[in-house]
Amino acid sequence: MKIAVLKESAAGERRVSATPETVKKFVGLGAEVAVEAGAGLTASIDDAAYAAAGASVGTRAEALAGAGIVLGVQGPSPDSLGGAAPGAWIVAGLNPFGERGRVDAYAAAGFEALAMEFMPRITRAQSMDILSSQSNLSGYKAVLDAAAEYGRAFPMMMTAAGTVSAAKCFVMGVGVAGLQAIATARRLGAQVSATDVRSATKEQIQSLGAKPIFVENVAGIEGEGAGGYATEMSEEYQKAQAELVSAHIAKQDIVITTALIPGRPAPRLISDAQIATMRAGSVIVDLAVEQGGNVEGAVAGEVVERHGVKIVGHKNVPSRLAADSSALFARNLFNFLSAFWDKEKGAPVLDEEIGDAIRLTQGGKVVNPRLLG
Ligand code: NAI
Repeated sequence: MKIAVLKESAAGERRVSATPETVKKFVGLGAEVAVEAGAGLTASIDDAAYAAAGASVGTRAEALAGAGIVLGVQGPSPDSLGGAAPGAWIVAGLNPFGERGRVDAYAAAGFEALAMEFMPRITRAQSMDILSSQSNLSGYKAVLDAAAEYGRAFPMMMTAAGTVSAAKCFVMGVGVAGLQAIATARRLGAQVSATDVRSATKEQIQSLGAKPIFVENVAGIEGEGAGGYATEMSEEYQKAQAELVSAHIAKQDIVITTALIPGRPAPRLISDAQIATMRAGSVIVDLAVEQGGNVEGAVAGEVVERHGVKIVGHKNVPSRLAADSSALFARNLFNFLSAFWDKEKGAPVLDEEIGDAIRLTQGGKVVNPRLLG
């Protein structure tokens, strides 16, 4: 089995889908790995390191020639895959809802597209979960981005010239990214509070030394739906949440928002009127900006200022830590493919539970129920 590792072509994408470590492991399984020259450069990996790990390094056409598996961070353009074997697997973060046209094109070209973000959230697939590995780093980086934009310090400092007070940091949405944001802000010395619609997160917030801010005594409070994800909340809940957040937000210096609902636009958590109540110089980081944004006025790819408050809307935050995010992403891909590696066939063979969940296209058709609706 030949595995091709492509250089990412999406604007601003610095990650790469394999590292010398995973190349070596694939070679250990008996696979042949071919890397497109320069694929790792933006993640601080040079071609020589891939070659030393046992890969061949060449042009894109050379990497693709006869490949049965094509790895990517984001989905490669279907018309840039010439030379791959018929029915080759495209294994990447394919953004199936956002890039539906591309999924159709994979089907038309006869590829079997496997969307890593559709990996079920079951215990045995945790090590294959790109959403978790990348969200974790996003949560960390969001706090550093906030600190970099903030004209004050995070920790309390008692100096001969007087005391600097600790920053107050509020994290909205306590999934994987939010938990890491809480931990990072705490490490930097901020006073941290956090909220979520899933009441199960209350204890997690407390165990990280932060203060939970929760809507109480409102119908439909349990916001946990299938697979541990959030559901959309009742109107009554949303109103109570807005009031609670309004009172709290006016006293915050830093707000990090991470709230997402699978398959829907991100919930709007902060209005322009609420931003106007914050102290000048405060910073909001909207990690959901590319899914529609949690914050009114946030602009994807920009840092904007409203009422003296900076709203940070960086796109593709994991790519801003490309070396580490690539290392984790590459391991997710290896953990996935190696778990299903059939030694006799010299190729992976998927089971139903995971295969059916992540397979988007097969035999010239779109086959995933989530896309067929
Ligand atoms: P996510 O990225 O889909 O959403 C981020 C957070 O926003 C979630 O905690 C969600 O409850 C929250 N949220 C949604 N609407 C909100 C609102 N209106 N106000 C405030 N918060 C709101 O979530 P993520 O990070 O993917 O985690 C979701 C769940 O999946 C968690 O329980 C996590 O522990 C679990 N998980 C399980 C895994 C496994 O078993 N393999 C792997 C990773 C996560």
